[in-house]
Amino acid sequence: MKTQSIDFNGNDSKLEEFFVDQLKDIYWAEKKLVKTLPKMEEAATTDELKNAFRNHLEQTREHVRRVENVFDMINEEADAKKCLAMAGITDEGSDIIDDTDEGSAQRDVGLIFAGQKAEHYEIATYGGLISLAKVLGYNDAASTFHQTLEEEKEADALLTQIAENNVNYKASIEPLEA
Ligand SMILES: [Fe+2]
Ligand SMILES: [Fe+2]
Repeated sequence: MKTQSIDFNGNDSKLEEFFVDQLKDIYWAEKKLVKTLPKMEEAATTDELKNAFRNHLEQTREHVRRVENVFDMINEEADAKKCLAMAGITDEGSDIIDDTDEGSAQRDVGLIFAGQKAEHYEIATYGGLISLAKVLGYNDAASTFHQTLEEEKEADALLTQIAENNVNYKASIEPLEA
């Protein structure tokens, strides 16, 4: 069995480079979400959705710390590289806020869409990072990411639940002229 090791740092494989590159990407994305989630909370209509964003903000702060820990584990400087995908998703979220009325159920429908797009990006990235960490022998990094991945999946499931229990229906009976 491969051991958790720093030996791979000297290994200079393309895969190792790619792993570090993706680590920088998710580091930027998580930090961006720390800034974005409070705006989503503020914009949300229902308390249920506000709470979901607030709770996920706390988790997201921890996700940032975990990525920093992984940089540490592999003896790399924590460094963020702009994630164009997350920048786009958060831009879409801002547009949704601009395009929906304050206090409307439609606002929450849109925010849930934006939130779930962000969660799915994170789920895809952490899933891939776990696979790469395992093959590179970074087993501690893999289990660190696994904790985060589970929280992303729970956050995503909670958003589905909020949409389906309440918000989507309310939006469906909202008049066009609010
Ligand atoms: Fe996260
Ligand atoms: Fe997340």
